[in-house]
Amino acid sequence: MMRLAGKSALITGAARGIGRAFAKAYIAEGAQVAIADIDFDRAGETAAELGDAAHAVQMDVTDQASIDKAVASTVDAFDRIDILINNAALFTAAPIVEITRKDYQQVFDVNVGGTLFPLQAVARHMIDAGVKGRIINMASQAGRRGEPLVGVYCATKAAVISLTQSAGLDLIRHGINVNAISPGVVDGEHWDGVDAFFARYEQKAPGQKKKEVGAAVPYGRMGTPDDLTGMAVFLASDAADYIVAQTYNVDGGQWMS
Ligand SMILES: NC(=O)c1ccc[n+]([C@@H]2O[C@H](COP(=O)([O-])OP(=O)(O)OC[C@H]3O[C@@H](n4cnc5c(N)ncnc54)[C@H](O)[C@@H]3O)[C@@H](O)[C@H]2O)c1
Repeated sequence: MMRLAGKSALITGAARGIGRAFAKAYIAEGAQVAIADIDFDRAGETAAELGDAAHAVQMDVTDQASIDKAVASTVDAFDRIDILINNAALFTAAPIVEITRKDYQQVFDVNVGGTLFPLQAVARHMIDAGVKGRIINMASQAGRRGEPLVGVYCATKAAVISLTQSAGLDLIRHGINVNAISPGVVDGEHWDGVDAFFARYEQKAPGQKKKEVGAAVPYGRMGTPDDLTGMAVFLASDAADYIVAQTYNVDGGQWMS
C-alpha cells in the first residue's frame, strides 16, 4: 500500500541531492511533489525525470516574495500542501578568525531564515485550509556539536534543531507535526563542495577528506541520499502521527542522542 497516496508535498532544494531523492521516494509512495529550488532549470530537469507527479517551482528560500509565490503556485497545482520539507541549505567553512560577516549572513539566511519562513508560509496555508500537515526540517550532525572549521554551518543546524522544537510545540495544536532529520555525511555534490573546503584548510588532496569521513562512520561508509528516504517517508506518514518536535539521527551510527 502506498503510504502517501493523495498527499502533496513541497520540497525546497529538491533539484538535486537529498531533496531529489525525497521527491522520488514520495512520488513512489503516491504523492505529488513540488520540486522547489533557486536553480529553476535544474528543478525543471529533475521534475521531467521524475514524471507527471513532479512539478518544478522557482523558489529562493531567502526571499519572502519568492516563498509566497512558490507556496501559491504549489497550492494552485495540487490544491493544497500536506507536507513541507525544508531541505535547501548552503555549506561554508573557515577558521573562526577568518569567518566573514557576508558569509555568516548568507548561510544563516538560507539555512535558518530559509527554514523558518517557508515553514511559516506553509503553516499559515495549512491552518487556513484545515490541513493536518507534516513539516520536516533538515538538520545535521553538525547541529549536534561544534567543529573547528565549521562554526557557521554548525550554528545554523543547531538553530534548525531548536526551531523544530519551538515550531513543533506551537503547531501541534493545529494538528501540524514538525520534526527534523539529522544526517551524518551523505555523498553527492554537496560533499564535493565540503571536500574542497577541507582540501584548502587541512591541506588535503581532493577526495581525501571524503575517504576519511566515510571510513570513520560506524556503519563503514558515507550515506547516500536513498539512505534517508525511509525516515522522510515515515515522518510524513500516518504512522508518525504522535511524533512531535523531534530530530532523528540517520547517520550510520555517527551520533547518539
Ligand atoms: N550531504 C550531507 O552530507 C548532509 C549532511 C547533513 C545534512 N545535510 C543537509 O541535507 C540537506 C540537503 O543536502 P544535500 O547534500 O542534498 O545538498 P545540495 O547542496 O546537494 O542541495 C541543496 C539544494 O538547495 C538549493 N538551494 C541553495 N540555496 C537555495 C535557496 N536560497 N533557495 C532555494 N534553494 C536553494 C541548491 O540549488 C541545491 O539544489 C541540506 O539541508 C543539508 O544541510 C546534508
